[in-house]
Amino acid sequence: MTGTARAGPTTGTPAAIGARLVRIEGPDKVRGAAPYAYEYPVDGVTYCCAVGSTVTRGRVRSTSADAIRQVPGVLEVLWHANAPRLATADGSELAVLQSDRVAYRRQIVAAVVAESFEIATEAARMLEIEYDDEPFAVELRADDPDLYRPDKVNPNFATDTETGDVDGALRSATYGVDHTYRTPAYHNNPMEPHASIAVWHGDELTVFDSNQGASPVRARLAELFGVPPGSVRVVAEHVGGGFGAKGTPRPVVVLTAMAARVVGRPVKMAATREQMFAFVGYRTPTIQRVRLGADADGRIVGISHEVVEQTSTIDEFAEQTAVATRMMYAGANRRTTHRLRRLDVPTPAWMRAPGECPGMYALESAVDELAIASGLDPVELRLRNDPQTDPETGAPFTSRNLAACLRDGSRLFGWTQRHAEPRVQRDGRWLVGTGLAASTYPARARASKATARARRDGGFDVELCAADIGTGARTALTQIAADALGVAPAVVRLRLGDTNFSEAPLAGGSMGTSSWGWAVTRACEGLRARLAEADGSVPVDGLAVEVDTKEEIERREQRPAHAFGAQFAEVRVDEGTGEIRVARLLGVFAVGRIVNPMTARSQLIGGMTMGVSMALLEASLLDREYGDYLNHDLAQYEIATCADVPRVEAHWIDERDDFVNPLGAKGVGEIGIVGTAAAIANATYNATGVRVRDLPIRLEKLIG
Ligand code: MOS
Repeated sequence: MTGTARAGPTTGTPAAIGARLVRIEGPDKVRGAAPYAYEYPVDGVTYCCAVGSTVTRGRVRSTSADAIRQVPGVLEVLWHANAPRLATADGSELAVLQSDRVAYRRQIVAAVVAESFEIATEAARMLEIEYDDEPFAVELRADDPDLYRPDKVNPNFATDTETGDVDGALRSATYGVDHTYRTPAYHNNPMEPHASIAVWHGDELTVFDSNQGASPVRARLAELFGVPPGSVRVVAEHVGGGFGAKGTPRPVVVLTAMAARVVGRPVKMAATREQMFAFVGYRTPTIQRVRLGADADGRIVGISHEVVEQTSTIDEFAEQTAVATRMMYAGANRRTTHRLRRLDVPTPAWMRAPGECPGMYALESAVDELAIASGLDPVELRLRNDPQTDPETGAPFTSRNLAACLRDGSRLFGWTQRHAEPRVQRDGRWLVGTGLAASTYPARARASKATARARRDGGFDVELCAADIGTGARTALTQIAADALGVAPAVVRLRLGDTNFSEAPLAGGSMGTSSWGWAVTRACEGLRARLAEADGSVPVDGLAVEVDTKEEIERREQRPAHAFGAQFAEVRVDEGTGEIRVARLLGVFAVGRIVNPMTARSQLIGGMTMGVSMALLEASLLDREYGDYLNHDLAQYEIATCADVPRVEAHWIDERDDFVNPLGAKGVGEIGIVGTAAAIANATYNATGVRVRDLPIRLEKLIG
């Protein structure tokens, strides 16, 4: 039958990109019709409960698995002695139950599979495990003799860089600062925990899983279980957040698939909130020494940023904490270094803006301290040191609009009304202060595939295995598809989150919209051209075009590409108690073209809010004797709630960067958290005269 789908003319169809389109899945979410991974109905499903080690380092000697297997309703008890061997995963967090070694406290050492959640949980509690325990080290120290230099830092940056005579420049500088800043460990706490349901039919595996990229999860599961990728289907249609913790597969999905294979029934498991603090990754603590030197005009002559951070004994994750310092400010003499310590801890991993977030807290605090030392306004100091080309390589940026962000932010915030002198501005018992910090995040894209298909009813299906982790990706991609087809968004059905669709990269590195949007654009352009050629003479129902942007991306000129921003904060500190409140937060960002102002704004203010949380509340507290993070629940790991969050405004400048991708968009997922903590720390200094160099800024650090 001849179809009626027609890609429309550009004229007459208003552009969808730039419109405030409401979230397409919004009504389903409100009605409870948008399932998370754990909620898919699966017949005959059984339940898995993981058991964590109660020692920090050592070996599992024996368990009471044989006795627990007799408990009615228990189907299996897995531990290293009887767990099936995985095909790969040696020496990785995913080598679940593959050896008797315990590398950190609460690492998975056993699991119970049972007919009900309650039986699994109770049987797991009853399981006795004997260990040989060994001395351990969990504390990060800058003077640790066992620090080492990793070969690279995440994802693939040089570990160290050095240009010119840094020490000489710092010695002869007119103004200088030399301080050490510390950030604690942080844990990702998405609304939906890691969760999976695994179903095997012979060697075919279907997994409903909460992740930031079903395609990479499929690839890894295929390797681990020794089956072809085509035999694995991963579904992640709706995901309740990730912040990086779900960027790569974690032990939950591996254990679930393993358990399902062993018991021959579907198995489901969700990490408990406590387990979210054990084996799904976290942001490394950092110790950062920053030295800056400037000449009499406030021009930076020397920059040194030396980072100490941790990894585990089973895997290496080296956060790229000093990398933003390489491109942020001008200055001929520069050094960045990263040193790691292998500790008896879980492996750190991605958390929103890994690298830029903790690194820019230190750098932007130090720049504020340099402004005070040199008597320059912090906006002016940054403008004077705003390079027009990459300061390490000399390469031109695709676009760099930090100056515009600083100027617009200064005006919108009312920056010039401030008193540079601390402890001057008061409102009754409150000391009032303002501060700012610059922000940056790389603008990258990865190769992706996408398929566009014409339907008989005149609509279009656009399919790719992108991930909507609550960001609005589904909505933004619908807008991108509509414009590329020249039709209204209402006739585009965007389908994602399923490996049955075209393979796509993960939602990470703020690259989702750029990477997927690029492929969607090309697929829709391709289909539109085919429809124009066909011109009604052939059936178009089901006419489909699949593209892969790999070659096009590889052909493009490589240039340093970054988003920029300026964050302004007003804080109020009770002079008597030290109680600290962020009264106002305003960010101006240069993030390329905005696909959807509503979802983009949500991403930016979400990042800024997480920055408030980082500045004032969040910290995973380590117990040296016990060898673990103590505050491993949401009662004790504090996260900003509504009452902690002030007026947050996110603005952006008019920017379109055609070097970065055909959309001209740079990504908005992570830049909002970068610089926020420094802006608040700098404002706190302005209010109180107290410089806090170890986060979080809590009242006991401001009084006494
Ligand atoms: Mo983001 S930490 O790259 O998921």
